[in-house]
Amino acid sequence: MQIVILNDAATVAAYGANIFATQLQNKPTSVLGLATGSTPVALYQQLIAKNTAGEISFSHVTTFNLDEYLGLAGDHPQSYRYFMNEQLFSHIDINKENTFVPPGDAVNPITACKEYEDRITAAGGVDIQLLGIGRNGHIGFNEPSSGLCSRTRVKTLTKATVDDNARFFAGDEYQPHLSITMGIGTILEAKKVVLLATGENKADAVYAMVEGPLMAKCPASALQLHKDAVIVIDKAAASKLEDLEFYQHIEAENQKLQAQLATL
Ligand code: PGA
Repeated sequence: MQIVILNDAATVAAYGANIFATQLQNKPTSVLGLATGSTPVALYQQLIAKNTAGEISFSHVTTFNLDEYLGLAGDHPQSYRYFMNEQLFSHIDINKENTFVPPGDAVNPITACKEYEDRITAAGGVDIQLLGIGRNGHIGFNEPSSGLCSRTRVKTLTKATVDDNARFFAGDEYQPHLSITMGIGTILEAKKVVLLATGENKADAVYAMVEGPLMAKCPASALQLHKDAVIVIDKAAASKLEDLEFYQHIEAENQKLQAQLATL
C-alpha cells in the first residue's frame, strides 16, 4: 500500500484527480471504476475542470460504478446513477452509454449481478478503481463480514450505513436497506485502486484498513492484498496511524525520486 498523507480534503481531491488525469492521458480508452458518497465529489469537480480545459477527455472511456441501492431506479434523485449524472457524467464529454451503474430496478437482481460482472470482464477489467471508505470499514457496500473474495451481489446494509446515509433522504422518504455492490474480489481485480478518506470520523476505519489485521470485519483491509493500492488521506483521517512518520518519510522519498526521474 502506498499511504499518502496530505494537509486537507482539497489537497486529497487534487492528488486523486491527478492520478486519474494521468491515467486518462496515458490510456484514453481506460476503464474507470467510480464511487459515490461525499468524498469523491471534489475529485469529480477537478476532473470536470480538467475536461473543460481540454487536458483530459472521457470520449473513449468506459466506467463502472461500485454500487447502487436496490429498489431505486436511475431517475430517483437518491439513486447512485442519478448522483453520477449530476456530479460527473452530465458535465464531461463521456458517452453515457459507456457508463455503467448496477441496476437498482433490476427485475432479477441475481442475474443482473452476474451480467454486471460479465460486462466488466468484456470491457477488459477495471484499470483504476476509485474508493471511499465507510466509518465501519466498508468499501462499496461490502459491509463488515463480507467475504474477502466476494463478487457483485445483493448485500444488506448495516444499520450504521443506513444511519450515515439517512442525511440524503427526506424524513418521510423510502430509504433502501439493500444494495447491489461489486464484491471485494471484484474490486481487488482492478489493476490499480485509489482510496480517498478525509476527516477524523474516518480515522478508526483508516487505522483498521492500513494497520489492522486482514479481516472481514474491516472489508477495506483486503486492500492490503492489492499490488497497487494508493491510500490518499488527510491528516485528520491519518491521525490514528501508529507508523504515520514512516509513511510520510516513504512518500517524501517517492516525491524526490519522481522529481529526479522527471529530469532524465
Ligand atoms: P462518504 O462515504 O464519502 O460519504 O464518507 C464513503 C463510503 O461510505 O464509502
